[in-house]
Amino acid sequence: MGTGPRSSEQSETATITGVLELGPFITIEGVDGSGKTTQLHYLAERLRTAGERVTVTREPGGTALGDGLRRLLLEPSPEPIAPAAELAMMFAARAQNCARIIEPARQRGEWVLCDRFSDASLAYQGAGRGIDSNTIRQLHELLVPGCYPDLTLILDVELSISLKRARARLVRSGSQEGRFEAEGAAFFERVRAAYLELARREPERCRLIESAAPEQQVAERIWHEVEAFAATRRQSVRGQAQ
Ligand code: TMP
Repeated sequence: MGTGPRSSEQSETATITGVLELGPFITIEGVDGSGKTTQLHYLAERLRTAGERVTVTREPGGTALGDGLRRLLLEPSPEPIAPAAELAMMFAARAQNCARIIEPARQRGEWVLCDRFSDASLAYQGAGRGIDSNTIRQLHELLVPGCYPDLTLILDVELSISLKRARARLVRSGSQEGRFEAEGAAFFERVRAAYLELARREPERCRLIESAAPEQQVAERIWHEVEAFAATRRQSVRGQAQ
């Protein structure tokens, strides 16, 4: 970042030295109403302004198949969806997103920013619905092997704020995507606790961002984390090339 657009010389160097410089893969997570989608777009704009090529995607979604599954998953369902079916659909959308969007963009050396990824399955289907987390991890390895984010930004905010924001947004937008928002506070407490635990367990990959602050302050904090990540990454790519 701040390095300007990648020159053809740079990408050629990576090929000549055999260093496979995959584009960085960043995910953003948090309970509904944590402000992650807004922050993801700020980050994408800032990276583009710094001369980087950026692909933005989301889950569930990102592809035609994923968007179809998204409707089935997020709009109120005439019959209750079994937790295992919910998990399977999340991973079907993910497998398509990885194959069609995430991996190709990374191969082209682009930054990939994804609004939610497998950590959301651990938080919502794992902690929220009670599916064993090892099963979810195994499913990940089976269906999207090796596709792991380099950096995960976890936005955290009190539920009294986030749930109000999420529900108000639904009403404002007239969106039908309210199936998860209809869950009770205990469900979201478990989801939030799972994200906090993840940040504690994987400090190398995860950054916990307090997101009750004004949007611009949160955006600055995120930019600071991403700059630090990019600097470390440049060093390690250089190290591999030597
Ligand atoms: P969002 O796009 O507004 O974040 O909404 C996506 C919803 O889907 C959100 O309530 C979380 C839920 N979800 C899961 O339960 N598991 C998953 O693996 C993913 C990606 C999302």
